Amino acid sequence: MATALVTGGAGFIGSNLIEELVKITDKVMVVDDLSMGLESNLPVSDKIIFYEKSITDYSFMKRLLLDERPDYVYLLAAVASVADSIDRPLETHEINQNANLFILDTIRVNKLPVKKILFSSSAAVYGDDPTLPKVETTMVRPLTPYAIDKFATERFVIDYGNLYGLNTVCVRFFNVYGPRQNPKSPYSGVLSLISNAIINDKQFTLFGDGSQTRDFVFVGDVVQALLLLMKTPSASHDVYNVATGTASSLADIIQVFEKLTHKKIALKLQPPRSGDIKDSLADISKLSKLGYQPQFDVEHGVAVYLESLK
Ligand code: UD1
Repeated sequence: MATALVTGGAGFIGSNLIEELVKITDKVMVVDDLSMGLESNLPVSDKIIFYEKSITDYSFMKRLLLDERPDYVYLLAAVASVADSIDRPLETHEINQNANLFILDTIRVNKLPVKKILFSSSAAVYGDDPTLPKVETTMVRPLTPYAIDKFATERFVIDYGNLYGLNTVCVRFFNVYGPRQNPKSPYSGVLSLISNAIINDKQFTLFGDGSQTRDFVFVGDVVQALLLLMKTPSASHDVYNVATGTASSLADIIQVFEKLTHKKIALKLQPPRSGDIKDSLADISKLSKLGYQPQFDVEHGVAVYLESLK
């Protein structure tokens, strides 16, 4: 069996990934500064070694990579919010780009025998281009520090593959939701905010009329995609959308929540949020050709998410 390093492993997506990784690897090293994640998100397993460190601690990262020589590296650590990146562009750049570049370069310079490196990018790179669905070849229009760093780092990750022979792959996540998405953060995704409101009988602020659409993907399907891309040799030096290929409007989603909880959500109506895109939808045929099949429609995924919050 193999070993894996997961940066950002105590976060929402990372901890869901690690739940599966502990079943198929000997050792999982987790680096997380707990700025967003929680150590308690991690499953209990002797295979997990947790380091409460930032990926910007370069001397630590270098020592870890050289000492541990992981087989697989999942680069999930990030300033994960667009709004946060707008407040802190320089720190975002340091974390989302420079620290990842340092990891790549440490692997290159020291000729470490890493089998594959996966970098988590975002649908944010497509920006406000209205073309739907988004295909990986759709023009990118990164409009925020978050999106700019994600796109530039994608390019570094892919070109470290092309130029130096590292085996690398990138993913563009769409609107991910599910267990351990922190509903308390103001930066959280809309589904966790709706869950929080309905469970605690609070108002939910709806920006716009609810007709905006998103490709909401359950975190279990995201984990399926990450594991598939890591083990598929042809998925190399390339980028893949991770989504479901189906759009739901917020109005549809609110109905799903109301049906599942037998409650009515108290809505506070606000004008559309500035900078929001109206509609988002992924073309997932590239990933589907590798065997990816999302298992959760929103009704199923929201039910599992609500159950996890009990
Ligand atoms: C999401 C990502 C963002 C990424 C983008 C790529 C999150 C938190 N954000 O943004 O990082 O760049 O996809 O396409 O996952 N809404 C409300 N009330 C609220 C919060 C949101 O009505 O309290 C609405 C928003 O106005 C928007 C929709 O819900 O129309 C989705 O919002 P959000 O979950 O923040 O995600 P995106 O804006 O799609």
